[in-house]
Amino acid sequence: MNIIKAHNLACPIDGAQLESHEKQLICKNGHVFDIARQGYVNLLPVQHKRTKHPGDSKVMVLARTHFLNSGIYEAIANKLNELVHSQIKDAKEICFLDAGCGEGYYFDALLNYLSEKKGTHNLSFVGLDISKEAIVQASKRNKQISWVVGTNRKPPVAEKSIDIILCLFGFLSVPGFKKVLKPGGKIIVVDPGPEHLKELRKIIYPEIKKPDQAGFLQTEKTGFSLIYSKALQFKVNITNNEQINNLLIMTPHFYRASKQGREVACNLQQLDLTVDVLFSVLEKNLD
Ligand SMILES: C[S@@+](CC[C@H](N)C(=O)[O-])C[C@H]1O[C@@H](n2cnc3c(N)ncnc32)[C@H](O)[C@@H]1O
Repeated sequence: MNIIKAHNLACPIDGAQLESHEKQLICKNGHVFDIARQGYVNLLPVQHKRTKHPGDSKVMVLARTHFLNSGIYEAIANKLNELVHSQIKDAKEICFLDAGCGEGYYFDALLNYLSEKKGTHNLSFVGLDISKEAIVQASKRNKQISWVVGTNRKPPVAEKSIDIILCLFGFLSVPGFKKVLKPGGKIIVVDPGPEHLKELRKIIYPEIKKPDQAGFLQTEKTGFSLIYSKALQFKVNITNNEQINNLLIMTPHFYRASKQGREVACNLQQLDLTVDVLFSVLEKNLD
């Protein structure tokens, strides 16, 4: 499989195609976006921001990088890679969008996995996140991916140009994704299952609630069909205080936890954890 440059980036202001001119991307109506020295492009205009620094902070991003680089969640990446491979059919060119890609661990792993597979496909990769800090970090992982600061609500790519969207532990914007997917295109969603990190949650919350379960299961109304759904469960033993802290910081639990619970968790030296994630594939219905 060949990795090709993504040619489907679109102006976030008027939706026109973006052309590359040296260190800038420019649309036919004259909107100009600089390519940063790290190689990413910021396609999040001020009017699309709800806060000054939207998305994950630098501290969260670095914690996630350290945690994921340790390989504790490698089984999730492996399962994702196999699932994506099984969903690639006959199209000659396949364009991926990782919507809410964070610091790029899973997308980088997917690119490496697919580029080792023999096949006649040309693949292009767009990694999108609303956090500039996440995209700066992702730019260090892989130079073959087009890393973009932008929002899932309005992904800055051409309409009907994407074959597969990944949405891992992120914000599923069904209308935004529907617009940019080709007919028959797919969203691969990875979300926490009911048992996910239950041992940690027992420590940090006075009472544990089940995570919100996939609202997207009512997809009939949204123009998508659920064609695959399977849980992946495994146990991990974290024997390192720093990694327990990284895990806490990289998740929303850090902000939601009680003060007391957070203190207990931050001082743990080891933790046996259940990882429980649900993989789903939603297929966009034909027009
Ligand atoms: C829990 S993290 C998951 C990151 C990555 N998918 C992973 O699994 O490692 C959620 C990510 O979604 C991003 N995010 C939040 N709202 C977003 C939006 N509206 N558009 C794009 N990204 C968003 C955050 O900045 C963060 O990087």
